Amino acid sequence: MMTQNKKTSKKLAIHGGTPVRTTPLPSWPQYDEEIDAAIQVLRSGKHARQSGSYVSQFEEAFAAYFGVKYAIAVSSGTAAIHVALAALGVGPGDDVINTAHCFIGTATPVVHCGAVPIFADIDPRTFNIDPVSVRQKITPYTKAIVPVHLNGCPADLDSLLEIARQNHLFIVEDAAQAHGATYNGRLVGTFGEMGCFSFWEDKIISTAGEGGMIITNDEHLAKRAKMIHHHGELRRDGDYYQGERLYYHPFLGYNFRMTEVQGAIGLVQLKKIPTYITLRRRNAHLLSQRLRDIEGVIPPYEPDNVTHVFYKYILKLDRKVIQLPAVDVAKAISAEGIPATRRYPTPLHQQPVFVEKRGFGNTNAPFVEPWYKGQVSYGSGLPVAESLPNDLIMIRMNPLLSEEDIEDIACAIQKVISFFISQESHSLH
Ligand SMILES: Cc1ncc(COP(=O)(O)O)c(C=O)c1O
Repeated sequence: MMTQNKKTSKKLAIHGGTPVRTTPLPSWPQYDEEIDAAIQVLRSGKHARQSGSYVSQFEEAFAAYFGVKYAIAVSSGTAAIHVALAALGVGPGDDVINTAHCFIGTATPVVHCGAVPIFADIDPRTFNIDPVSVRQKITPYTKAIVPVHLNGCPADLDSLLEIARQNHLFIVEDAAQAHGATYNGRLVGTFGEMGCFSFWEDKIISTAGEGGMIITNDEHLAKRAKMIHHHGELRRDGDYYQGERLYYHPFLGYNFRMTEVQGAIGLVQLKKIPTYITLRRRNAHLLSQRLRDIEGVIPPYEPDNVTHVFYKYILKLDRKVIQLPAVDVAKAISAEGIPATRRYPTPLHQQPVFVEKRGFGNTNAPFVEPWYKGQVSYGSGLPVAESLPNDLIMIRMNPLLSEEDIEDIACAIQKVISFFISQESHSLH
């Protein structure tokens, strides 16, 4: 915790001054009953979902929480998007519109389906995909849009759904960072044909490191997704686990199954979403209140019609006041004992795998003819996505942070920003 002395010490820790904080912030995730649940599964000897019932229970509870008919548990958020796109029939010759400012797991599933990602630019306030740019990116080959609800802030779904309706496109929502976030009062993940979630280690809820879920109200898509994530296998009664096993495979499938340990942990975690979200929002709003009057930083924007769940707390540098790159500001904040990093330093359309169209084997498949008849080139042309990494600083947010922790975070940011602003204004005179 911070002392008055540290609060008033102006010399930055990166320059040998006293850091604002010397003890680590509370780490995330935190498991308690989850550990007993996992041990119980391990002791039972039923570890695969075909043997036990925890994954099925988790799916049922997840579907009930989201008010949808079907939930399909998978091994990761990336697998969820892959299975969802495959269930929708996305394949060679198609393209899919993705956001350029994100983790690559939102886009690689497109390629793994044999299709081509086309990246759209970003809204500079929410950092979500910009519907205006989406419209410009549609080609005769476009089959779907994958909007991400980034950092826990819902994307502009009204506009995206309208674009999808007008152009006969599917929407697969990437809600990997936004469990429990709402748009116009409704949970995200429930707007598109399918919604996808990640339970990776530090997500809003997690299932022991890895895990994912797909939700949908469409019976046909749910059936396809169940088969595709399980070797494309069909059982005698048409279900994918309960019937007699025929080793009969009508579809190309994968092994993307969730384990029983993950299912048992997920079942416990799911009940905690409302509390976790309340605490994340309280902490983020406390921090934003503290930062609101600090020159040089812009706290996260929360549109009126959404509930942002603050998976991460993203600060934007105000370029009217401070010119230093985010990487340097983040290093200085980290030195004060508050972990801070850049957010997604390389936009997706500038990742070498896309710029050089590195595809299957040693080929450029599926980015070029004869697989894809459109023209796609990566590397530039998305000005907001290209400038954001220089402007954004990511502060970890979690439900365990206390008011004192938030105060330390605010003090570290204030100390660093004030120092750099004063340096810049000196150098101008
Ligand atoms: C927005 C987004 N999409 C997709 C993924 C992929 O999820 P996973 O890491 O569970 O495969 C992540 C993950 O971390 C993510 O943040």
